Amino acid sequence: MDFTYAHNNTSEPERTTPTAQFNRVGFCVELEEIISSANLREIPVADRETLTFLTSLLSALQPKNILELGTAVGVSAAAMLSVCKNARLTTVERDKNFALEARENFKKLNISPQITLVEGDAGEVINNLTERFDCIFLDCAKVQYVKYLLALKRLLNDGGVLLADDVLLYGYVGGEVPVPKKRKMLVEHIREYIRAVTSDEELSTVILNVGNGLAMSVKK
Ligand SMILES: C[S@@+](CC[C@H](N)C(=O)[O-])C[C@H]1O[C@@H](n2cnc3c(N)ncnc32)[C@H](O)[C@@H]1O
Repeated sequence: MDFTYAHNNTSEPERTTPTAQFNRVGFCVELEEIISSANLREIPVADRETLTFLTSLLSALQPKNILELGTAVGVSAAAMLSVCKNARLTTVERDKNFALEARENFKKLNISPQITLVEGDAGEVINNLTERFDCIFLDCAKVQYVKYLLALKRLLNDGGVLLADDVLLYGYVGGEVPVPKKRKMLVEHIREYIRAVTSDEELSTVILNVGNGLAMSVKK
């Protein structure tokens, strides 16, 4: 059974929030072309509202060191760096073709020197990282989120922010939309992640109705 990411299934429409119509950040021409090309090919990238939230939050926080799990073709990484000109970003992708395309996109955008793209499984990579991060964007295998949590807390600086994408998953997780049978296990794993981060005394967490749902946890 493949629960890596639900975006693969195009029969499930992206969840639209009432605020999505207003939350539409714009980027440079080159990044807009990369986004259009990814959307045309149905490559899973964070939606416009999520990118709006990320860029707004990171503009304020100005993290120096960012970790992203799930690069795809580099859209969210580029969006984050567009507002953090002096940050360094490490991003992890296990799909070779996506990693190759992301590298090309980073070159086009002249941001390669700020980025370390690690090809491999996020679960393995995070256990071997030794540096600490001010911001972590978790956007890969949703089913693994809860398994990654302990390692991610270790990698986060005090006051650092952990953002997990897609935690409302098409409305299934919050009960807006009935959960299809094939998604039940994934939804349970995401609910487990939400329970874990909202009850963790070392984290201050809010679940945001942004895009497909974002869990924002700040390490106290
Ligand atoms: C939703 S996409 C990431 C989108 C990207 N963050 C963006 O918004 O531009 C999820 C990506 O995670 C990758 N992925 C899934 N499971 C992974 C894992 N265990 N380790 C590393 N990458 C993984 C997939 O290949 C896919 O490219």
